[in-house]
Amino acid sequence: MNLTSFTAEMLYLIAGLLFVIGLKRMSKPKTARRGNLLSAFGMLLAIVGTLIHYQVIDWTYIVIGMLIGTFAGAILARVVKMTEMPQMVALLNGYGGLASLLVGWAEFHKQYENVLNPNVTHSIDTYTALTTFLTVVVGGLTFSGSVIAWAKLKEVMTGKPILFKGQQIVNAAILLFILAGGVLFTIDPINNYPIFIGLIAVGLLLGVTSVIPIGGADMPVVISLLNSYSGIAGCLAGFVIQNNALIVTGSLVGASGIILTNIMCKAMNRSLANVLFSGFGSVQTSKGSGEKGEVNPVNVEDAAAILEAAGSVCIVPGYGLAVAQAQHACRELAELLEKNGTEVRFAIHPVAGRMPGHMNVLLAEANVSYDHLYEMDAVNPIIETIDVCLVIGANDVVNPAAREDKTSPIFGMPIINVDYAKTVIVMKRSMATGFAGIENPLFYKENTRMLFGDAKNVLQGLVAEFKK
Ligand code: TAP
Repeated sequence: MNLTSFTAEMLYLIAGLLFVIGLKRMSKPKTARRGNLLSAFGMLLAIVGTLIHYQVIDWTYIVIGMLIGTFAGAILARVVKMTEMPQMVALLNGYGGLASLLVGWAEFHKQYENVLNPNVTHSIDTYTALTTFLTVVVGGLTFSGSVIAWAKLKEVMTGKPILFKGQQIVNAAILLFILAGGVLFTIDPINNYPIFIGLIAVGLLLGVTSVIPIGGADMPVVISLLNSYSGIAGCLAGFVIQNNALIVTGSLVGASGIILTNIMCKAMNRSLANVLFSGFGSVQTSKGSGEKGEVNPVNVEDAAAILEAAGSVCIVPGYGLAVAQAQHACRELAELLEKNGTEVRFAIHPVAGRMPGHMNVLLAEANVSYDHLYEMDAVNPIIETIDVCLVIGANDVVNPAAREDKTSPIFGMPIINVDYAKTVIVMKRSMATGFAGIENPLFYKENTRMLFGDAKNVLQGLVAEFKK
């Protein structure tokens, strides 16, 4: 190994270590920011290592690419609103897949041209052909699947499962083509360029057909799975171009994505096999129980009086808190309640909001201390002792249909059992459904009071009442 390769490999090693330490630190809110910086620095080292490794002599495209990428990244980080983060994360997963697809394709094309050159004695070995085929298929399905996930989260297409006749047959045909085409290409890559292009097209199609039937409350699992796929595609691309940094980074993203998928599956009470193989979310279409009762609306003054009299309050935030950007007003109300002698907890559902950890990030931004945050499993056993559950912009994660209605699409999903508390105050703008698009019987329960309005305005109103 010459000095250049040695330096590059050392940089890759340090980068890999920084990724691992960074990931570890990202698992706790207090150290997450530093963990993110460490990982970003590791990525810089990996890029420098790659440039040294390949002894880049023409820097023009590298510099142009880096300038465009840095500019676009900085602008996006500034202008994308907190509520649009999940869509952006979905797109970033997709870009990872697309990059791997292009790396695999470019590498194959380069080698294909080499082989056709009579002056070069070179052929494409089975190992390279196999990893190239896998890279473009996984990269392609990650890209198109992520674009569909983005469209669903951005609500430019329906968030509900899209089903059509013969869907399973189409999926089976796609898988069969990938299997047969992959074998043919791996055995004889040079004479099967058209099949290679077909594999790219079918990989892209698979991403679409596997994500469209999934909708509503199942989206968190899909997003974390696509995140994992983007890592696997990157890792495979690393094998194609024999780049250790890419292999390490890709496997870290792939593995952490699978762990996150597992956490999401548990949160949704779904098995991973169910997620991977059965086109889940496609079987049931009930909108929830048809039985409705009376809704009990409450105004800000009366809600403030209920809260003032409560010995314990459990705040359950959801996506609406993020939309309203009401986290600061929420923290202020919690502080006033505590001053009043009330015990205040925040109960966090693992899939509340639109991305993993959404509520934690939101509340951390408003300086709500971590010891006030309780996971769903810690709150549910004591919820009957709580005087008031204050639901702020949450809907699906507190929907008792998940517990009571066997025909409901979210039946079996663990929820925060707010309806077991003595009183529930639900803060939202209307009777509209949440992301899963299903009715919520909680709103009609006897112990529920509906506090209609934008969460920020209503919370500011409650704060004003307490300050009177
Ligand atoms: P949702 O069920 O989506 O309900 C949010 C509620 O907030 C809506 O019913 C809406 O009702 C209300 N709202 C919106 N803007 C508001 C505002 N300005 N002020 C007050 N209320 C407002 O949210 P959730 O309970 O957090 O559940 C999350 C859902 O998203 C689950 O189905 C989950 O599976 C899905 N999902 C989660 C993720 C991750 S990883 N967390 C990713 C993708 C999808 P109004 O319109 O009546 O105000």
